[in-house]
Amino acid sequence: MDPRIPSLSGEPPTPAVDISLPNAARIYDYLLGGCHNFAIDRETAEKAMAAGRSSALPARANRSFLRRAVRFMMAEGIDQFLDLGSGIPTVGNVHEIAQYANPDAHVVYVDNEPIAVAHARQLLAGNENAAIVGADLRDSGAVLTHPDTRRLLDFDRPIGLLMVAVFHFIPDSDDPSGIIDRYVSAFHDGGYLALSHYTEDGYTPEKRQRATAGKAAYRTQAIGRTRAELTGLLRGMEVLPPGCVYTPEWRPDDEQPVVSNPADAEIYAVVGRIPSSSSTDH
Ligand SMILES: C[S@@+](CC[C@H](N)C(=O)[O-])C[C@H]1O[C@@H](n2cnc3c(N)ncnc32)[C@H](O)[C@@H]1O
Repeated sequence: MDPRIPSLSGEPPTPAVDISLPNAARIYDYLLGGCHNFAIDRETAEKAMAAGRSSALPARANRSFLRRAVRFMMAEGIDQFLDLGSGIPTVGNVHEIAQYANPDAHVVYVDNEPIAVAHARQLLAGNENAAIVGADLRDSGAVLTHPDTRRLLDFDRPIGLLMVAVFHFIPDSDDPSGIIDRYVSAFHDGGYLALSHYTEDGYTPEKRQRATAGKAAYRTQAIGRTRAELTGLLRGMEVLPPGCVYTPEWRPDDEQPVVSNPADAEIYAVVGRIPSSSSTDH
């Protein structure tokens, strides 16, 4: 069986994908009710949920935060977004939210997962105001100088930077703070950063054990960080109210999933205002 998914004409071929192994991005898509996943992803997710090692709540509450953060930024006048670790296009994509409110809003997606990139290319075909860059977000130079990034984002105007449910895949040895600094310092007129991140704050030893088993089943290396560590990543920015909170607690609205205990969402959310470089140059 050829494991490659078909490429669109004119697009570079999609690298081989081993569909016998579960993949965290596709499992996330499944948990959100998307359709870009394989049998192995669905089985793995169902088994982990049946064993009480995982639930769909963190993914749904996170996606809901992403929607609220984009709407918040749009209300603040942001009309261009750089979405790092954008994932497989699924329920409530950033360009759909943004371009619904403003058809001229520009969105650059970035992901290093071949399936996510291929599906995003298909979804975005014909959309002049949005593109996906297949790159590792740690390579900020490649992302920031990519022709689609340069075409769609104006670095002399404020930009909405989205790092939603992705930084927990970046270990300390890769210098997450330095990565954020490199993006933010390219934004001459500032903007906003929305960050959401897996945490094990408040885990009981039993829950920690279950989470470790869940990570092994999903083959993810997600690193839980504390509230203080995450707030530290926004150094130099103004952290906006309500601060770093569980995703369901960040400026809730009527459309988000009902959650009795916000900590069950297991993901923190925080939004900061990025100052313009002129206000930090002196
Ligand atoms: C859990 S999904 C989050 C998707 C989306 N941001 C959301 O919150 O709905 C994480 C995504 O980050 C991508 N990712 C992980 N590490 C990455 C890296 N170093 N560079 C680019 N993308 C990465 C994965 O491929 C996956 O699609």
